[in-house]
Amino acid sequence: MAFVLPVNHSKKMTKVDVLLGLQWGDEGKGKIVDVFTPKYDIIARFQGGPNAGHTLEFDGIKHVLHTIPSGIFHEDTMNIIGNGVVIDPVILKKEIEKLTDRKVDVKKKMIVSRKAHLILPTHKMLDAASEAAKGKAKIGSTLKGIGPTYMDKTGRNGLRVGDIELSDFQERYDVLVSKHRTMLDQYGFDYSALAEAEKEWFTGIDTLKSLTFIDSEHYLADAIKGGQTVLAEGAQGSLLDIDFGSYPFVTSSNTICAGACTGLGIAPNKIGEVFGIFKAYCTRVGSGPFPTELEDETGERMRKEGNEFGSTTGRPRRCGWIDLPALKYSISINGVTQLIMMKADVLSIFDTIKVCTHYNYKGVKTDKFPYNVEPENVQPIYVDMKGWNKDLTGLTNVEDMPKELNDYIAFLEKELETPITVVSVGPDRKQTLIRDKALV
Ligand code: GDP
Ligand code: IMO
Ligand code: MG
Repeated sequence: MAFVLPVNHSKKMTKVDVLLGLQWGDEGKGKIVDVFTPKYDIIARFQGGPNAGHTLEFDGIKHVLHTIPSGIFHEDTMNIIGNGVVIDPVILKKEIEKLTDRKVDVKKKMIVSRKAHLILPTHKMLDAASEAAKGKAKIGSTLKGIGPTYMDKTGRNGLRVGDIELSDFQERYDVLVSKHRTMLDQYGFDYSALAEAEKEWFTGIDTLKSLTFIDSEHYLADAIKGGQTVLAEGAQGSLLDIDFGSYPFVTSSNTICAGACTGLGIAPNKIGEVFGIFKAYCTRVGSGPFPTELEDETGERMRKEGNEFGSTTGRPRRCGWIDLPALKYSISINGVTQLIMMKADVLSIFDTIKVCTHYNYKGVKTDKFPYNVEPENVQPIYVDMKGWNKDLTGLTNVEDMPKELNDYIAFLEKELETPITVVSVGPDRKQTLIRDKALV
């Protein structure tokens, strides 16, 4: 598909662009990274792990990537798994095998930071034990071992990819697992399946060993100096960020733009464009507050039309109207320079589209995302917009967008003070409309 990425690349490129989610994940990051990849030499994942599910569709085939960056289908692009990512060797092995079946040579096109941490089988067990112990207060984790692995990282107990190259790797593994066993005993968790899981894990380690390991900070510094173009690919969304998300119902990494610096070793002054991606409405999977959630027939219709079921766990996603206080918050924290609006086609079924412009926060009208976003503190305040009621999925030209869709976009751009430069109208690569910078 021919399109011009609306970024000023006329000078020699010395900055890293970042693409990240502004809501609670699943905004469509995988699709857009794939669409943008022809313009970049390197695509780099900077945080999260196999809790992510990034979907790409082209030539009638759908691919879901969990750990592997979404640039992998393009011939001339290098893909990096950065130090901020946590890797489950078992899942990575499966991903590589699936891609090999599709004639993608992952070993040639992907390199891995030595400083990325490893998810052990016992991390997954600890995730399950912790969730079970929380009962009703559970996070709704994907149970991929993300939280416990990042806990070991910050607790300075973790195992890293670079450790695989050390002669005492097995010993280090045993020390950590022994700690985990004690913890699992405290939970009363049955870990009799561990021996079997370990066999599979070490087979995954063998596959991981066959990849090229790098120090991503050096690699990227040289790449930037050499004028190579880099796009950092976020996972999850800003409202799941460990610091700024709806804590404790968040993931365990920094999903925001700053995470690209710490998760790849890029200096803050080397960040260029920040692409903030959002759905034309809003979804969330797992527990936690969601001010504009629709627990009614309208939410059900949205879920059905948008096929809102988790790419990683298959769980139904909770659905609701677009939330501007939340988006303003995410745009501000990330320094978003351009917005990308996804799934506009899904809203075609509605005569009226609601936009939450403010919250009633404990009786006071505000457009600030507050500390307490639980329903007892926050009620959304909406304006109604006329729907477009037209099928958008065949659109190829921005000029053919219905007036009501243009009105919706213009309203959001004005409220969010950021241009919406890309509009997506279907899951396929081709269903992507590139607009000019409307506001600068
Ligand atoms: P990610 O985690 O941000 O990469 O997003 P996911 O892949 O988990 O979820 C996005 C879902 O929406 C996937 O099933 C995509 O194929 C699909 N999708 C992406 N863009 C569009 C769009 O514009 N319209 C529709 N109908 N589906 C889309
Ligand atoms: P992508 O990259 C949507 C959610 C989980 C849970 C919380 C914590 O596809 O957008 P974790 O397994 O990280 O401990 O779960 O975060 N979550 C996601 N929701 N998309 C994701 O990734 C997610 N990754 C984690 O549902 O509520
Ligand atoms: Mg996803």
